Amino acid sequence: MSKSRVAPRLSADPALSQTPATRPFAYRNRTLHCDGISLSTLAVEHGTPLYVYSADQIAYRFQLFQSAFASRPHTICYAVKANSSLAILRLLGQKGAGFDIVSGGELERVRKAYKPALQRVVFSGVGKQIWEIDAALKANILLFNVESEAELHLLAARAEALNLRARFALRVNPDVFADTHPYISTGLREHKFGIDINAARAIYRKAAKSKWLDPAGVSVHIGSQIRKVDPFAAATARVISLISDLRKDGHNIRYIDAGGGLGIEYSDSAFDPAQQIQKYAVALSRVLSGSVLDPETHLLLEPGRFIVAQAGALLTRVLFVKKNGTKTFVITDAGMNDLIRPALYQAHHEILPVQQPRTRATLTADIVGPVCESGDFFARDRVLPTVKPGDLILLLDAGAYGMSLTSNYNTRPRPAEVLIDGGEAKLIRRRETMKDLLAPELLP
Ligand code: LLP
Repeated sequence: MSKSRVAPRLSADPALSQTPATRPFAYRNRTLHCDGISLSTLAVEHGTPLYVYSADQIAYRFQLFQSAFASRPHTICYAVKANSSLAILRLLGQKGAGFDIVSGGELERVRKAYKPALQRVVFSGVGKQIWEIDAALKANILLFNVESEAELHLLAARAEALNLRARFALRVNPDVFADTHPYISTGLREHKFGIDINAARAIYRKAAKSKWLDPAGVSVHIGSQIRKVDPFAAATARVISLISDLRKDGHNIRYIDAGGGLGIEYSDSAFDPAQQIQKYAVALSRVLSGSVLDPETHLLLEPGRFIVAQAGALLTRVLFVKKNGTKTFVITDAGMNDLIRPALYQAHHEILPVQQPRTRATLTADIVGPVCESGDFFARDRVLPTVKPGDLILLLDAGAYGMSLTSNYNTRPRPAEVLIDGGEAKLIRRRETMKDLLAPELLP
């Protein structure tokens, strides 16, 4: 497991003086623990598959952003889609986070988790519906990130109907290449997201004529799991140049939303989140500071993965170990419906046995779930310490886009979730029951 070896430069902040390891999972007496709580105990108490998160790690990651951008007015709008658990939203909301939402459902989550944060919500997404726009207008959210001219017309119409004024930013497509998986890259013209940056100026000009629309910002988001910081700087530079034009046109642009997307290290190589944030902040600050923007321009960021991915893991039990010819399969009680990232993006997740082995014996196996799909795997040809039926294993870095992408495929109840907070394991979502699963269905 990777540990941060380099002392973070941000440790002057008292909240960061106790720098946790990159991941909150560590062996104690040969058993994996999360912030001092034994995972084998959790498995007995709550069953498996089980998502386990560290509140300290989430708070630490959020604080890294807060400190790195402390010198300018900013709001860190955590991307709810990464992990939309109410308890995690509340934790972040109480620490001052705003939220990036993409649906009326996510708006309701923010309302329920921490109502005061509604005024720090930005609403992204290419397909907003009337009921979602109305709910967000009534909640007086901070900013609509509008992704098409048609959506802008609808926003104006709904604002008029409700006699409210809508603050909006156009989400522009900067045509910047970000080196990431094609399914999670968004900043090129060929993608469905945003509005061509070259067409934006004319749209702002038209919009400014409506008394129901307040052109308050410009936003951009180029993709997810981006490890290099240069593409963020390039996209931000293009947005700044647009803002400069918009100000010349007389628009009162107060917000620049630089989106989310900062990547993490899923392998076991060393990774220091503090250093990575520092690089990101330096790259953005370089383009922001030397620009036409005044120091009061409010910076919005929409990180998701970076805050929660490494704070969480999926705990699962080995059901069977099976050999087919030369291949070995470790079959677990978690499946692709519980964590779809390997199946969907060929994503790598490190896997650790919960009991540290006493021998060096290993096996090379595909780690697979019980779902009836050949794509139902967590790892292929992975070398692991030898495991046997009944053993527990842990899939690391599953705190982001893990639980939020679960499904009931194969009529499998979703996992339970536990948050380790202040040395206590708090159940934040109970395991679904068969009754829950069948409840919406009718037999006419
Ligand atoms: N803002 C917008 C407008 C987004 O679309 C996203 C993510 C974010 C912020 C947050 O990006 P992050 O900081 O988490 O990279 N399911 C995929 C990731 C999909 C990302 C979708 N948009 C995965 O598991 O890798």
